[in-house]
Amino acid sequence: MTPFTFSTTQSLICEPGASDRLAEIAASLGMQRPCVVTDGGLLGSGLLTPVLAHLRAAGLTVTLFSEVVADPPEAVVLGALSQARDGRCDGVIGFGGGSAMDTAKLVALLLNNGQRLQDVYGVGNAQGKRLPLIQVPTTAGTGSEVTPIAIVTTGETTKQGVVAPQLLPDIAVLDARLTLGLPPAVTAATGIDAMVHAIEAYTSKHRKNPYSDMLAREALHRLARHIEAAVQTGHDEQARSEMLLGAMLAGQAFANAPVAAVHALAYPLGGVYHIPHGLSNSLVLPHVLRFNLESARHEYTELAGIILPQQEGHADDAAERMIDYLEELAVRLALPTRLRELDIPESALGRLAADAMLQQRLLVNNPREVTEADALAIYKAAW
Ligand SMILES: NC(=O)c1ccc[n+]([C@@H]2O[C@H](COP(=O)([O-])OP(=O)(O)OC[C@H]3O[C@@H](n4cnc5c(N)ncnc54)[C@H](O)[C@@H]3O)[C@@H](O)[C@H]2O)c1
Ligand SMILES: [Fe+2]
Repeated sequence: MTPFTFSTTQSLICEPGASDRLAEIAASLGMQRPCVVTDGGLLGSGLLTPVLAHLRAAGLTVTLFSEVVADPPEAVVLGALSQARDGRCDGVIGFGGGSAMDTAKLVALLLNNGQRLQDVYGVGNAQGKRLPLIQVPTTAGTGSEVTPIAIVTTGETTKQGVVAPQLLPDIAVLDARLTLGLPPAVTAATGIDAMVHAIEAYTSKHRKNPYSDMLAREALHRLARHIEAAVQTGHDEQARSEMLLGAMLAGQAFANAPVAAVHALAYPLGGVYHIPHGLSNSLVLPHVLRFNLESARHEYTELAGIILPQQEGHADDAAERMIDYLEELAVRLALPTRLRELDIPESALGRLAADAMLQQRLLVNNPREVTEADALAIYKAAW
């Protein structure tokens, strides 16, 4: 067996309604002046109102930063940092999807260690310790609550990752009730993102290991069975709980066995065309998997046994059937399936392929080597 290491968030609280106890959870980490990092949509939804009231009633002095936007640019991270500094915050609570949680991670790190944002991009460049950090996901998607990663939009169209063990939070609070009002299109896209995390972790070239495999399988078992109910019947607490847990399990898998070409080809779509992260993944997913088939047939066949609803037909083509099934799933979830539906001109595909090549951090994990010509062919198939 190949040697491996495995890290995850130290403490997981998985319980509908658990966010009602956030004040006591924050106090258990010694927080007295937490910075709550969220986005305007969530603040407007009223979801945070009882949480903030509880925190304040418990005597905590809350600094609220609610200006996170999807795919947070550097200015958002710096704004949150400055507000937390002004509030003399001694801990950070990320409340929202990946965008809010990633911003919260960087605030907790940079407020304490004094490094500049531009100095921590890349792998292992963070120094020192961060402030206490709690993450409360409100989408079942990124798994950011259990990953040592934060993604920042650095230019007009480019994204950079900070990968450092300090970014793993102290506590993740999984309260499925917070996800009951997540709109169908966001539920679908973030749910597919989580499925992609599990699929790519399962074929990750260098760091795939028995632990990440177990998590990826368990994640897919839950996500594949419940994604349609969560999209169609948003208030189904059981389906929402399964999705939130599945997304976290997938996050634990890919935090230790990193994602690959689906994400590498998805990032330019988000960067250039501001397509949501999960939808970007969904658009290229079947085409990347078909490209990978010659190198990952064995693993895809194993996953087909988990993803496909019933086992019929021949095992020889189970991998192809799984890819077809995932392609049809996007249609059933009412997601766009073609790049041209999103007003991406065919003439832009060359630039997208060149941009995807910049994501070497991810491409090295792909089971099959991807050249720029391959990336272009995949975008053409997705167009
Ligand atoms: N850190 C990681 O490991 C990791 C992994 C994958 C992606 N990411 C990053 O995460 C970001 C994407 O995160 P995301 O897909 O969770 O989306 P998001 O955080 O951008 O949120 C999407 C939208 O959903 C809304 N929303 C969130 N929760 C809601 C709820 N419960 N009810 C109603 N509306 C709600 C938000 O207001 C927002 O408008 C990207 O920046 C991506 O690069 C990070
Ligand atoms: Fe993702």
